[in-house]
Amino acid sequence: MSILLTGGLGYIGSHTAVELLSAGYDVVVVDNLSNSDLSVKDRIAQIVSSTRKIGEDNFKVYVGDVRDENLLNKVFSQNKIDAVVHFAGLKAVGESTKKPIEYYDNNLISTLKLLEVMRKFNVKNFVFSSSATVYGQAKSMPIYEDFPVGATNPYGRTKLFIEEILKDLYAADNSFNIAILRYFNPIGAHDSGLIGEDPNGIPNNLFPYISRVATGKLDCLSIFGNDYNTPDGTGVRDYIHVVDLAKGHLCAIKKLEQNCGLQIYNLGTGKGYSVLDIVNAYNKVCGGKVKYKFAPRRPGDIDICYASPEKAEKELGWHAERDLENMCKTGYNFECKKQK
Ligand code: NAD
Ligand code: WQD
Repeated sequence: MSILLTGGLGYIGSHTAVELLSAGYDVVVVDNLSNSDLSVKDRIAQIVSSTRKIGEDNFKVYVGDVRDENLLNKVFSQNKIDAVVHFAGLKAVGESTKKPIEYYDNNLISTLKLLEVMRKFNVKNFVFSSSATVYGQAKSMPIYEDFPVGATNPYGRTKLFIEEILKDLYAADNSFNIAILRYFNPIGAHDSGLIGEDPNGIPNNLFPYISRVATGKLDCLSIFGNDYNTPDGTGVRDYIHVVDLAKGHLCAIKKLEQNCGLQIYNLGTGKGYSVLDIVNAYNKVCGGKVKYKFAPRRPGDIDICYASPEKAEKELGWHAERDLENMCKTGYNFECKKQK
């Protein structure tokens, strides 16, 4: 079976490519390299080569934009695609408030073009990368899939709008099988240290920021707020190892093969850790190099957010296996090995 991964050279896409290839699937990637590097292709191949011999027929990368219909036509004509996982998108919350047109254009148009070409080629299995951000500040924890949704920024709204588009599409044509995966906070890296999260510039997210403080690339972490309604006053999130998250996509693809219709799944661990928990766990791994200071709350942040992963466990047979120590170890290993 051949799976198309849009954005397959990015953080979550690259780990998913490794899991799919290792499980015997063929993988085709379309990525415009706006937030990734072509060298990731060779690193994916290098990781997989220890367990499977792969050639050009098993793993192809097209460098280009998902909004480019001609490119999509070429990709679908040249490959017999069985399912699509749509990772490609812009994802920085802060940037989306400054550049809403770019976010709506990139995230919405790419999805519409992709679905149009899929329909033309009669490819009806679709996995979409959504986000816990669609829940906003939930009234209670853990968060279940049927909780009310409502985004507070353009990035989150692109995810919500796409979810609505997918529901309309399914209502019009129920031969589609669609898995909407709402990821919580993916962190960590592949055990090999060859792939991981490597944002351009100063990271917005907690974990890559900590990794750069631990390796001396940045001076000190600012912890945004220590007066939240949480046990230690710092924000609580559901951090999930990116390899566990990647494996969730394999389970979702298997579910699509059973003609599941449209389904929504939270992919999280069900556990909440505070910013201080993460700093302390990371410091155990790196020998105490993460210095921090408290700073004012970051506008738009919520105090607490963690998933109920029960539906994914029950219906996909998936649950996260790796603990916080492993998330920190693999993240630190990647950051230390990175050539930059
Ligand atoms: P990423 O930026 O590392 O990967 C996205 C990839 O898509 C990049 O390689 C980028 O070059 C590519 N891309 C972007 N727009 C494109 C386009 N128009 N055409 C072709 N390629 C394009 O991000 P990620 O963390 O791997 O996230 C993957 C998906 O998961 C995104 O849709 C993101 O919104 C979603 N998500 C991420 C998180 C997270 O915390 N990382 C959480 C929830 C949801
Ligand atoms: C986590 C905690 C911060 C940086 C974002 C998106 C969400 C999803 C995942 C895509 C919070 C604190 C952070 C720092 C800090 N992405 N923090 N100092 O905000 O939960 O979620 O990424 O869909 O949509 O909003 O993740 O890693 O930015 O923050 O104290 O320098 O760390 O206040 O409590 P967040 P994050």
